[in-house]
Amino acid sequence: MRSLIDILDLSVQEIEELISVSEDIIANPEKYREKCRYKKLATLFFEPSTRTRLSFEAAMMELGGNVLGFSDANSSSSSKGESVSDTVTVVSGYADIIAMRHPKEGAPLVASMKSSVPIINAGDGGHNHPTQTLADLLTIKREKGTLENLTIGFCGDLKFGRTVHSLIAAMSRYKGIKFVLISPEELKLPSYVKETYIKNKGIEYEQTTSLDDAMDKLDVLYMTRVQKERFFNEEDYLRLKDSYILTPEKLVPAKEDLIILHPLPRVNEISTAVDNDKRAAYFRQARNAKYIRMALILKLLEVD
Ligand code: CP
Repeated sequence: MRSLIDILDLSVQEIEELISVSEDIIANPEKYREKCRYKKLATLFFEPSTRTRLSFEAAMMELGGNVLGFSDANSSSSSKGESVSDTVTVVSGYADIIAMRHPKEGAPLVASMKSSVPIINAGDGGHNHPTQTLADLLTIKREKGTLENLTIGFCGDLKFGRTVHSLIAAMSRYKGIKFVLISPEELKLPSYVKETYIKNKGIEYEQTTSLDDAMDKLDVLYMTRVQKERFFNEEDYLRLKDSYILTPEKLVPAKEDLIILHPLPRVNEISTAVDNDKRAAYFRQARNAKYIRMALILKLLEVD
């Protein structure tokens, strides 16, 4: 039995297979409608979510399975003091697979040690978000035709942005990748991520505070929200929240075949005026998430 806690739990070959299955699901959805009949997915969300929880639930429903779970820690017995370990021990007796989001880094890993069914990390604190990364990789592959030889700019909150950490880890395994890290000083990429996945692998990178200086070099621009929920004081959040706002004017020097990604939700960091630009791929990215989560459920449940 396998869980998905970190994106590197999957090999490059396995990610290729998930992308390929996702493409087949998109082309032939009817083939998959009964694949998970009588199977149950539990979504245990101790933190708010729209896309991740609902796309997991939609994914299981489109595979013919059922879903159960909670979307708010306050409506679960964790509000009475139950531990993650106990919750998971119990729920793994009710469901065949569990997707869990938790504000504490490492909680899904702890859950996977107790669970008798596969655990999927649906986001743990400011640490990792591997299934968002799968959606990001599928989107890059569909939009650019490749995961190699790309210059990827990450812009915004690189400190707390867990999707950034997981995507950097994933992209560091492909050939010809360059990273441009664009953030305010206070929201720089954590040094453990930079050391492990960039410096130690000899990957070319630049660090800057200026989105304007980086724009014309990028093949992929990955915008992020400043993660209000991870700040210790509101004053710092208010000072930093609008550090970068992508507008049509800012995109003037950008490549014609740039793609703009964002894990969403967005607050202010991409003007709605950008939404009609063909390079804005973030809503397609959100749609792709359902398909690759379907592929992941099939893989972890070992459904043929
Ligand atoms: N991208 C993402 O994780 O969105 P939600 O927080 O809405 O699930």
